[in-house]
Amino acid sequence: MSKTKVICFANNKGGSGKSTTCSNVGYNLSQMGKRVLLIDGDMQLNLTLSFFPEDIALGFVQSGNNLYTAIKEQKSLQEYIVHTPYDGVDIVPSSTLMSSIEYELFTKWQREFILRKCLEPVKATGVYDYVLIDSPPTLGGWVMNIMCASDYLVVPVEASPWGLFGLANMFDFVGQVRQIAPNLNILGIAITKADERKNYFHQTVDALRGYENIKLLENYIRIDSSIEWAQDNSKPVGAYKKSSRSAKEYYDLTKEILEYADR
Ligand SMILES: Nc1ncnc2c1ncn2[C@@H]1O[C@H](COP(=O)(O)OP(=O)(O)OP(=O)(O)O)[C@@H](O)[C@H]1O
Ligand SMILES: [Mg+2]
Repeated sequence: MSKTKVICFANNKGGSGKSTTCSNVGYNLSQMGKRVLLIDGDMQLNLTLSFFPEDIALGFVQSGNNLYTAIKEQKSLQEYIVHTPYDGVDIVPSSTLMSSIEYELFTKWQREFILRKCLEPVKATGVYDYVLIDSPPTLGGWVMNIMCASDYLVVPVEASPWGLFGLANMFDFVGQVRQIAPNLNILGIAITKADERKNYFHQTVDALRGYENIKLLENYIRIDSSIEWAQDNSKPVGAYKKSSRSAKEYYDLTKEILEYADR
């Protein structure tokens, strides 16, 4: 039985491509024959909406079949897994109530490890090769839970003037997490929404290459409207338009992530 690897996608900068990267890497891993569980850790439901239309996503909120209930009641995530339309990709949907998750965690014993404990029974089944977790654009007790439950962190960074702002803060935060969860590795930074025509893009790449001990992943994702159309249709871009540039770029990025995570 192979060991389930857990990868989270986090960056406190909003709109840096976390949900887009998590959903597309998840789908592509399944296309490569891996069995994948996605966990939507954000109240914006963007990961859930990447696979389901709004009415179905809101149905998960209303029914209570979502991550918020699992964490609040400290239940196994196994009970909250739903199949997506794609073979090999399942998801634990999110809830708008995740807005008060910090409050729920506050009174709990060993509150940094609640998600890790809820995930443990799922890992024990050995059904999934990969668990991918999407994070909200914050740093706090909940994101700490996400990181403490993970083996690897991928940091999507938007190649824009403000894309790098706050990154040092985040790596400080990761340093704190590693004091209580030393298994967490920074797998790398993934550049998203790149526009090679702009000088700023090249400046961002140079700045990111300059980080010591943090790998900049070679494959980056350029700006592409196919991503938005795919999301509008609740599909990963590889399923929506396989011939698109971003479908290929996300495929290559997934292969690169797999190289490091599959060791
Ligand atoms: N390569 C791309 N080309 C064009 N648009 C993109 C690309 N990647 C992401 N986007 C768009 O940018 C926006 C932000 O992306 P996304 O939601 O993945 O970021 P996020 O980091 O998850 O945001 P948040 O911090 O709010 O959770 C979305 O509207 C998405 O459609
Ligand atoms: Mg998001």
